[in-house]
Amino acid sequence: MIVVIDFGSQYNQLIARRVRECRVFCQIEPPGIDIDTIKSLKPDGIILSGGPSSIYEKNSPKVDTAIFDLGIPVLGICYGMQFMVDTLGGTVKKATKREYGFAELNVKKPESLFEKIDQSTTCWMSHGDSISKLPKGFSITASTDNTPVAAAENVKKNLYGLQFHPEVEHTPKGKQMLRNFLFNVCGCKRNWNMKTFAKESIQQIKDAVGDKKVILGLSGGVDSSVTAVLIHQAIGKHLTCIFVDNGLLRLNEAAKLKIMLKQHLKINIRFVNASKLFLDALDGVTDPEKKRKIIGKIFMDVFDAEAKKIKGADFLAQGTLYPDIIESQSAFGGPTSIIKSHHNVGGLPKKMKLKLIEPLKYLFKDEVRILGKTLGMPEELIWRQPFPGPGLGIRIIGEITRKRLTVLRKVDDILIEEIKAHGYYKKLWQSFAVLLPIKSVGVMGDKRTYENIVAIRAVTSKDAMTADWARLPHKLLAKISNRIINEVNGVNRVAYDISSKPPSTIEWE
Ligand code: XMP
Repeated sequence: MIVVIDFGSQYNQLIARRVRECRVFCQIEPPGIDIDTIKSLKPDGIILSGGPSSIYEKNSPKVDTAIFDLGIPVLGICYGMQFMVDTLGGTVKKATKREYGFAELNVKKPESLFEKIDQSTTCWMSHGDSISKLPKGFSITASTDNTPVAAAENVKKNLYGLQFHPEVEHTPKGKQMLRNFLFNVCGCKRNWNMKTFAKESIQQIKDAVGDKKVILGLSGGVDSSVTAVLIHQAIGKHLTCIFVDNGLLRLNEAAKLKIMLKQHLKINIRFVNASKLFLDALDGVTDPEKKRKIIGKIFMDVFDAEAKKIKGADFLAQGTLYPDIIESQSAFGGPTSIIKSHHNVGGLPKKMKLKLIEPLKYLFKDEVRILGKTLGMPEELIWRQPFPGPGLGIRIIGEITRKRLTVLRKVDDILIEEIKAHGYYKKLWQSFAVLLPIKSVGVMGDKRTYENIVAIRAVTSKDAMTADWARLPHKLLAKISNRIINEVNGVNRVAYDISSKPPSTIEWE
């Protein structure tokens, strides 16, 4: 495995991605990690990431410099390289010209990191400091016009540095450089795949849980479903899932989940229908944040009460993914960590004295989907688009009533059916309908109507942080609009949302 030390670069996750794409396991750790922990991970190599700091700033991040004496190959990228050079006796100075963007890299010899790489290749630079003197034992392996020390190495000590970013797409041969580091320098094996991951985590869960019981809050989304299936394969009936129906779900959602997870996969699930509790509490509430608070609070109470009925439960499982972990442990952990904590079933473990199990905590979303497939889960579950915890509650703008929920459910069902039928479901990050609190005039048959408007929202995105409205074909939009107005009583107008995030958000509330 490879350890990546996180010096705060925006590209850290990308480094981890690239290494894993080479089928080598890799873990991101903060610079504060102690040397014994690094040793206990038995890494085949260490990558020091880039970062926004200058090595001369007072609080610039540092990792224990003993890593350079472990005999483990180290690759420093950008700030990581400068940290290495500075530590080992070289000099880093403010560059006369900040270098940002594409640069032509001149490779001295097609060896070690540059094996199978042309003498001249493009690389992506983003730095304000430059190396003016290398430590003893190092030699320059590549340069650009602006940066004489664009790459350097000390082969004897297995230390390598790249001033540019091999992990980004803008360095076309970057992946080959990383491959060279992993396989030629570190001697890694290509053995990280979901089959071995599943086998190992099933064993780990068995060892950790023993004959105790595990509780899992099941939402029906990809993450919690895959977590359920994985734990179920490890401990079978000792897993109990709790699914809370908050009355804000989509058409037949609970029933579909029952068939897929309970009947087909034989997972022990308690379905709690708390619709009345939620809908009564939401009666007359129009403020989006108030809606969220009410829904969140009742969810906790209902889940808590149900979990207490399960005697002898020692563990609470969660479908936390790697990006959440990285963000909350980041060396420069900004407000992201606080935002994320709201999404988990926070508070429960402390109150109930349950130990946490998070078997997906080292996986990215697409890896979770592959894992789901490896575990034999149906496509329909693996490819579900994200659905917010407050559900249709934040897609009915204004007051939530049972009648309006029925209208939106029908609309949503038609929309998803058409999106799927036209092959767009997997291509879109999310596609859904929003029921507006205003009415418009229409004419149906010979009669004037005065009915609801729905907006269709379909976006593409990688991580929900930014999103673009999907350019769906007019033919598909026409079919969706036509079916909704004809088939759903109470709707006489359909609008298509053409705003991106930012400045809009994905949800309307
Ligand atoms: P926005 O609307 O902020 O949404 O662009 C980004 C992503 O988060 C989802 N979302 C939520 N998920 N509880 C959740 O569990 C919420 O309160 C919530 N609000 C938004 C949204 O569906 C999108 O995927």
